[in-house]
Amino acid sequence: MNKDLIINNTIVFVKDTLKGAESGHDWFHIDRVYKNALLISKSENVDLFVVALGALLHDIADSKFYGGDETIGPKLAKEFLELEKVDEKIIQHVIAIIENISFKGGKEQKTFSSKELDVVQDADRLDAIGAIGIARAFNYGGFKNNLLYDPDLPPQMYMNKAEYKKGSGTTINHFYEKLLLLKDLMNTVTGKKIAQKRHEFMEVFLSQFFAEWEGEK
Ligand code: ADP
Ligand code: NI
Repeated sequence: MNKDLIINNTIVFVKDTLKGAESGHDWFHIDRVYKNALLISKSENVDLFVVALGALLHDIADSKFYGGDETIGPKLAKEFLELEKVDEKIIQHVIAIIENISFKGGKEQKTFSSKELDVVQDADRLDAIGAIGIARAFNYGGFKNNLLYDPDLPPQMYMNKAEYKKGSGTTINHFYEKLLLLKDLMNTVTGKKIAQKRHEFMEVFLSQFFAEWEGEK
């Protein structure tokens, strides 16, 4: 097994498969997650090959675009890795990472855990916060034609409503339902440190946003 060659082939496969993907999950998202996963790995005792393959393949098929079918991504990844003649044990680990990366840390029972999953999950979560996270959120909100913000439904009031449905609100509300919660869900020391910095940047952004919303005084 020539690991460097397999990683290069994986990069080519992912770039090609994600051609034309929406910007939240395009190749550049994968590239950022890949780089951050390698950075976090420097302080973790992990199998770098598994981390690299997990990061590169984690969004190979977004279930949103396959009628919610969450089995397509793992299946595509498995087929690809088998063609590349990757060891069966490594394939199983990478597939488990892809299947479990979106675990929300709440209701569902966590069925799989590994240090490599922790690293890739942290890297993926980092890309949802900070300046990039803000950009991705407003891009998604624009795509959905959501309001930037609705002062009649501010985050706290909105989230306490019984009929509150996650993801149905304004982009500013998405910060309160998800983005501001991510720093406390980080698994690794390095992930936590970077998340803290990005979290503070989002707080600065939000206070500036609300100040500008009120108009200059
Ligand atoms: P992930 O790929 O991390 O599982 P999603 O597919 O839910 O996350 O979201 C992709 C990107 O779109 C993330 O940056 C996320 O914060 C953003 N996003 C998801 N839902 C919303 C929403 N309701 N409003 C604004 N941004 C959103
Ligand atoms: Ni992702």
